[in-house]
Amino acid sequence: MSTSFSPPVQAALDMVDEASYTSEPDGTRIPQTSAPAIIATMLDLLDVDPGQRVLEIGTGSGYSTALLSRLVGDTGRVTSVEVIPDLTARAAELLRAHGSRNVELICGDGVKGAPGAVARFDRVIAWATVERIPDEWIRQITPEAVIVTPVNVTGLAKTFAIVRVGRDSENLEPQRLISGGFVEAHDQAVHQWLIPPYGADALTHDDQDRPWWLSATWLRTEGTAATASGEALLDRLIADARTVPGPLAETENPEGFYGYLLATRPAGLTTAALGDPAWRIGYTSPTGAALTSPSDAQHTIHAGDQEALHALTAWAENWRVLGRPGFDRLRPDLQRGEDGSLVRLTL
Ligand SMILES: C[S@@+](CC[C@H](N)C(=O)[O-])C[C@H]1O[C@@H](n2cnc3c(N)ncnc32)[C@H](O)[C@@H]1O
Repeated sequence: MSTSFSPPVQAALDMVDEASYTSEPDGTRIPQTSAPAIIATMLDLLDVDPGQRVLEIGTGSGYSTALLSRLVGDTGRVTSVEVIPDLTARAAELLRAHGSRNVELICGDGVKGAPGAVARFDRVIAWATVERIPDEWIRQITPEAVIVTPVNVTGLAKTFAIVRVGRDSENLEPQRLISGGFVEAHDQAVHQWLIPPYGADALTHDDQDRPWWLSATWLRTEGTAATASGEALLDRLIADARTVPGPLAETENPEGFYGYLLATRPAGLTTAALGDPAWRIGYTSPTGAALTSPSDAQHTIHAGDQEALHALTAWAENWRVLGRPGFDRLRPDLQRGEDGSLVRLTL
């Protein structure tokens, strides 16, 4: 993530008082707040010009809306869609109080674009992760438009990256990729964050009622056998898991290894949560699991047969053989999916 920004984005950051949007009168920060550095990095990727029309998905606190309002200036317009009605009302009041007159706020599901939009958008930016780049957005943009959005890049729960997509005549053109992600876009207010809205293929709860889930392609085979195996594996993790060192050493870059797994999607690749808010990545089969933290990868939680541990170790070895490529070596690729374009990664 960048720490120095283009002059227009830096000027907008200097002019907008973040705390007046992200803090309540008693000083607490509202939960739907993103770090200013990732907001500014994504606004740089979006490359907004004065006079443009921007569609924003996820108004949240209204801070990013205020920055966009500055970037498009008096001759431009920002349409911002937020799924939680109270947030739309709160942001509308704040933006009005700060004199932003080029902003239209809509309450609804921004994955469907802006309902009833008449003019097309030059830029689209989302602060909630989509499963695919929705066709609805493409129908609402100009031929030269740019989209910056967090998107799921494997189909497994929690595997996100941020992509910039432009247009080459009528075709979408994937242009840039950075690591990062936001909560999954949802079409109504969500009251729990521990179970992802999609991709949890096996789910159970421990005796303290904490959710444990697995997301893996092998769990998606038809029939009840795969579901039963997934639940049995979770029970085994709850009862018998032990922690072993690896697969990476302290000196190795976990983000690069994580990116390698996202791009290569080896058989058995799994994401999981093991009773706490953190999530893990690794290998599972019906008979074993080896799961590590994507942000560290120095410890592995293991249950069942040794094959699972061997598989995860072999993936790390394959990554080393390739010269330990970093996340910056990954390229986005678009594939046609239902109702939109799936983003997948290549190395
Ligand atoms: C990370 S927060 C937004 C942060 C915001 N940009 C700011 O500056 O504070 C993500 C927001 O997206 C909203 N959201 C999630 N899914 C949505 C959807 N389908 N349509 C519109 N908004 C959505 C959430 O309610 C939340 O307010």
